Amino acid sequence: MAENKSIKNKIIVCNWKMNGNIDLANEFCNLVGYNSRIIFALPNIFICQYSNKLCLAAQDCSVFDGYGAKTGEISSKMLLDNGVKYVILGHSERRIQCEESQTKTHQKIINACGAGLKTILCVSEEYRDQINEDISKLIKQNKDSILIAYEPLTAIGTGVIPDSGEIDSICGDIKEMYDTQVIYGGSVNSANAKEILSLKNVDGVLIGCASLDVHQIVDIAKIAELIN
Ligand code: PGA
Repeated sequence: MAENKSIKNKIIVCNWKMNGNIDLANEFCNLVGYNSRIIFALPNIFICQYSNKLCLAAQDCSVFDGYGAKTGEISSKMLLDNGVKYVILGHSERRIQCEESQTKTHQKIINACGAGLKTILCVSEEYRDQINEDISKLIKQNKDSILIAYEPLTAIGTGVIPDSGEIDSICGDIKEMYDTQVIYGGSVNSANAKEILSLKNVDGVLIGCASLDVHQIVDIAKIAELIN
């Protein structure tokens, strides 16, 4: 598949959450297009329509594997079969609003790895507890398919980001502990992206609110390109 200009190293993950519509998705297809470093976590209803136009992530997957009598569920295997490349797991909104347990997140990572999806595992300030022994083992065994998104609760949707030194040092700590790629999420936008993407231990960004604005994503993609 032909790619637009590549962003060699840094990754940009756009998490639309429960937002967006076809017009917005079409705008992104026209102005961004398919780029394996710019990943769109669209709501599941858009997946089939956009899987060959944008590099897609799912915002979650079922705790159940494969296929079966599981009403309302979508498995990682089904996501992969429909062109999805990544799945976001353990997002704080799922941990808190949907009361998702560590055991469930762990099982979902197993399913995603088994199916061949890459996992974007979200953790907060509680990362030492959230990455328990079982999850840590999984990360070490599947280094190339699990990356960690450090998203402090104080920064998600608040417009307030931690000091960049603190972001770099925590991402560095996580990178050293689990030996995998680490991205930062929480109030990233086109005004602060340069500062965050320039940090040595930050391999990319996970963007919520600003990912609904195509112009901000185009600007952030340009910044990432210059930094690489
Ligand atoms: P935000 O969300 O960019 O709106 O803070 C980030 C996230 O929840 O992943």
